[in-house]
Amino acid sequence: MAEELIISNSVSKQEKYESLLPQIKGLIHGEEDQVANLANIASALKFGMGFFWVGFYMVKDEQLVLGPFQGPIACTRINKGKGVCGTAWAESKTLIVPDVDTFPGHIACSSASRSEIVIPIIRNNEVIGVLDVDSDQRNDFDETDQQYLEKVVGLI
Ligand code: SME
Repeated sequence: MAEELIISNSVSKQEKYESLLPQIKGLIHGEEDQVANLANIASALKFGMGFFWVGFYMVKDEQLVLGPFQGPIACTRINKGKGVCGTAWAESKTLIVPDVDTFPGHIACSSASRSEIVIPIIRNNEVIGVLDVDSDQRNDFDETDQQYLEKVVGLI
C-alpha cells in the first residue's frame, strides 16, 4: 500500500480523478474489511479532490447510518426517501443537486453545504449504502464527478 497520496493541485478535475483512481485501487487492494476501506476512500477523496465533506452512509435496519467520512460532524441516520441521500437510495440512482436550497427535503447537516452529489452503492440489485459528497460552493458537481465517483463506488 502507498504510504501517501500523490496529489497535484494544478491539474483539471478529470486529471485529479485519473490520478486518484489507481491509488484508491491500491489502497483497498488485499484488505477485506469494509470499514477500513471506506475510511481510506473517504480520506483519499477528501485530500485528493479537496471536497468539503465526503463520506458513506450504509443501509442498516431500513435506515442509512453514518459510516466513515471526512469533514464536519454529520447527521447519523437518514430514512429511505428523505433528503438527497434517502432519495438516491429510494430511486437507486446518482443525484446531482446544484443548489441544496432548491431540493425539497434536503437535510442540512452543515449550514455551509451548497451543492451535493450522492452515488448509490449497489450490490445484487440492492442499494447497500451511498457515497455522499458536499460542497460549500453552488454548482460544484457535474457529469465528470458522477462518472468518476461511480467508478470509485464500483471498487467497493
Ligand atoms: N445533505 C444530505 C444529508 C447528509 S449530509 O450532507 C452529510 C441529504 O440531504 O441527504
